Amino acid sequence: MMKTELIKVDPERPDPKVMEKAGAVIRGGGLVAFPTETVYGLGGDGLQASSSAKIYQAKGRPSDNPLIVHIAAVDDLYRVAAQVPDEALALAKEFWPGPLTMIFPKTGRVPYETTGGLDSVAVRMPDHPVALSLIRAAGGAVAAPSANRSGRPSPTRAAHVAEDLDGRIDMILDGGMVGIGLESTIVDLTESTPVILRPGAISREMLCAHLERVEIDPGLSGADDSRPPKAPGMRYRHYAPRAPLVIVEGAAAEVAAYVNARAQEAKEKGQQAGILASDETARLYETGLVKSIGSRKAEGDIARHLYQILREFDQEQVTCIYSEAFHTPNMGQAIMNRLQKAAGHRVVRVPDDGHRD
Ligand code: TXA
Ligand code: MG
Repeated sequence: MMKTELIKVDPERPDPKVMEKAGAVIRGGGLVAFPTETVYGLGGDGLQASSSAKIYQAKGRPSDNPLIVHIAAVDDLYRVAAQVPDEALALAKEFWPGPLTMIFPKTGRVPYETTGGLDSVAVRMPDHPVALSLIRAAGGAVAAPSANRSGRPSPTRAAHVAEDLDGRIDMILDGGMVGIGLESTIVDLTESTPVILRPGAISREMLCAHLERVEIDPGLSGADDSRPPKAPGMRYRHYAPRAPLVIVEGAAAEVAAYVNARAQEAKEKGQQAGILASDETARLYETGLVKSIGSRKAEGDIARHLYQILREFDQEQVTCIYSEAFHTPNMGQAIMNRLQKAAGHRVVRVPDDGHRD
């Protein structure tokens, strides 16, 4: 066990002395967890093979699952990406800094330890003053996966990072709760047609305004086992709460009737079901531990609260979790992708009266 230093920082205007100290830790080969606009990241020097090896070890992550390299200036893209197509520059201009990760052929400076053995590298410029300041202080190329133990929901607060990684990393910068709550959209630009490997806050429609064509990785649906997702990390049963989770799709009253019956069965066995509901529907549930993720009218809240609620269910020791579906207009794809992964793609459809949600 090492001592993990926890330092509070102002998320808007972090103290330059603190950031210099944190940058020195990374330059020296150590690991610092930090807030981004999506989730907390676990940062190490992306150009030092031994730093990436340490990241895998701290997370207990399989070392064939590549890391995202975080930069703070577009010029630094050329240090890590061997070819940068014009459409990537157009996307960078529009969405960086922001929750968009792009995949390029890598340069020789990026060690295979960072890319999980691949010849490509994932790059993103996060939209958070603490993250940008840390990246600059650390030398410009910070490899950072989400700062959770492998298989746990991504952290949206510093306390979640401490829960998973205290004693395993050098430092945690606490910049409060993140803004988005789900990881960045990943687009692969090494194919002739750009492919979305992971949906996020930047939706397909937003990308379509700047690209002639965009496809969504068919492996994401989970419908066909012979077609795994292209991003190695999307193949693992990530984001998984300890109790099995089932998504129940259908009209609100029928979803509640189905869930109430299952929750009652659990109760009769001396167990407790967890129910992931919304402000509009929470009162429809009769038994079990009901948690509202927020209003269905505020999709940003749903995205921001999802991982925290999954962590809470773990702590409450529920034996099973039932979740409503959230097909919201912009973030719905990302929200449902993470929920489906947490559920291992277990979805029940109850008779629908025609109006969804
Ligand atoms: O919002 C985010 O992207 C957060 C914050 C910290 O920036 N980071 C994050 O990293 O979510 P991580 O490591 O938890 O997820 C990275 C994903 C994994 O699914 C990984 O397989 C994929 O990106 N990935 C990374 N490099 C890749 C590559 N060269 N080709 C295909 N997939 C890649
Ligand atoms: Mg992750």
